[in-house]
Amino acid sequence: MKQGYFKVIENEKLCENVYKMRLLGDVSGITNAGQFINVKIDGVYLRRPISVCDLDENSVTIIYKVVGKGTEILSNLKEGALDVLTGLGNGYDLSLSGSEPLLIGGGVGVPPMYLLAKRLISENKKVTVVLGFNKKEEVFFEEEFKKLGANVIVTTVDGSYGVKGFVTDAITNLNYTYFYTCGPEPMLKAIYNTVKTSGEFSFEERMGCGFGACMGCSCKTLYGNKRICKDGPVLKKEEIIWEK
Ligand SMILES: Cc1cc2nc3c(=O)[nH]c(=O)nc-3n(C[C@H](O)[C@H](O)[C@H](O)COP(=O)(O)OP(=O)(O)OC[C@H]3O[C@@H](n4cnc5c(N)ncnc54)[C@H](O)[C@@H]3O)c2cc1C
Ligand code: FES
Repeated sequence: MKQGYFKVIENEKLCENVYKMRLLGDVSGITNAGQFINVKIDGVYLRRPISVCDLDENSVTIIYKVVGKGTEILSNLKEGALDVLTGLGNGYDLSLSGSEPLLIGGGVGVPPMYLLAKRLISENKKVTVVLGFNKKEEVFFEEEFKKLGANVIVTTVDGSYGVKGFVTDAITNLNYTYFYTCGPEPMLKAIYNTVKTSGEFSFEERMGCGFGACMGCSCKTLYGNKRICKDGPVLKKEEIIWEK
């Protein structure tokens, strides 16, 4: 984990309540796709965890949805610097992907799929990405994934764009060697019950400290209790116990 100050160099609205922010600073703490950063926001008590969406030598990109006070304040930032903890969480294990990995992102679970897709494609993997949203107005990053060279399928619950239904409706007839997913828990659970291969789930659990100290994000797995922030947020399919 590294702490540093990052300059806000972009904070652009992508669609209704969803923003893309680019932060300039020391990104050397970030290694894996699926890791997250923890942002200190003036006006709220706890830091807010947000997944790494993209990365280059000196900047990190995040995509966030405005759901409460912290993200509302963030969306109004035009310039300045943010105190950020980087390199948090384990991230996805790319070595298990096989030749044709399937990536499934739902809503604000889409952003971590971007860096993952980018890295898998750079390893010559044939990547299919399924992006799930409620309606057309919420769709973002379809073109960005296509530009990477991924096969992209968009689903909307109301059928206003792409395949009508849930991401699980789009994956039943696909062939793939392994899967990676991130999104709301009901979606993750439905995927667990649909997928045909092994794979990995990223959980966006509510957090306290975000770096393993408070046990506030502890969950039961088949291999004992794990802290989502430190031992996760990515868990393997074989270790998950659904408690709810
Ligand atoms: C590892 C990780 C990665 C994440 N990545 C992203 C991301 O890439 N993009 C993104 O938009 N969000 C992401 N989140 C969720 C994000 O952290 C919360 O939306 C944010 O902290 C809300 O802060 P707030 O002050 O705006 O809302 P608050 O005022 O704290 O909460 C407003 C409402 O949102 C609900 N809420 C807050 N946090 C969560 C959560 N983690 N899960 C479900 N409901 C929540 C609250 O229950 C409340 O109803 C991630 C969370 C984790 C743990
Ligand atoms: S949030 Fe404190 S241990 Fe995970």
